[in-house]
Amino acid sequence: METRRPLIAGNWKMYKTNPEAVESAGRLVELVADTDGVDIMIAPVFTALDPVSKVVRDTRVGLGAQNLYWEKEGAFTGEISADMLVSAGCRYVIIGHSERRQYFGETDETVNRKINAALAADLIPVFCIGETESERDSGKTFSVLDKQVKDGLNNRVVDELGTLVIAYEPVWAIGTGKTATSDQAQEAHKYIRSLISDSFGTALADTVRILYGGSVKPANVSELMGMADIDGALVGGASLEAESFSQIVKF
Ligand code: PGA
Repeated sequence: METRRPLIAGNWKMYKTNPEAVESAGRLVELVADTDGVDIMIAPVFTALDPVSKVVRDTRVGLGAQNLYWEKEGAFTGEISADMLVSAGCRYVIIGHSERRQYFGETDETVNRKINAALAADLIPVFCIGETESERDSGKTFSVLDKQVKDGLNNRVVDELGTLVIAYEPVWAIGTGKTATSDQAQEAHKYIRSLISDSFGTALADTVRILYGGSVKPANVSELMGMADIDGALVGGASLEAESFSQIVKF
């Protein structure tokens, strides 16, 4: 089996003004300067991308955005394209986060268009999926993941998906302090990898990185990272402080 390089990604959500983002990113750059063998990404708000890109350029820390729009340009007030993110210094983009699905009407169909746009611009998509608490309680976890993966990656061919990153984030574990147990997470990750294998073959399934997200903290990251199919973490709350995020990076 291929070895997959871990990715620890911080989703800053709608936190931090530009001076705060620049300060936090600068502190993180110092704290992780001596790390090796792990990819690191932070995703500030759109308005902070450009100033933060200047802080992280040529460092261990990569820059990501939290969303994009699939058109290249046009009369789409308030939206931002993949090329615009690239020009602001981004290498990654989070797509289909559960908060966007829940509060901003994103669907598997819009997520699919966004993944296509990201790949076309050579951005690394961090494609978020995960079940709600009621879906888990009614035994639908696997069928929900199945639909999200198939519809989100609909019409893609394996050659295009080499950089794809998937983030499994059970909605009930996001921002709640309720982490999935490492066994629950591993079970879901293994299932997601089997879906990739069924649709795109074992070569992609062996190399695609699947991150776990949902209340990841310095205290629980190493157990999660010890599981066979967990290749990294997408971290919300604990990524806002450079110290705690750097501890997670050094799992
Ligand atoms: P959390 O958020 O770490 O605060 O639970 C994770 C996420 O929403 O990506």
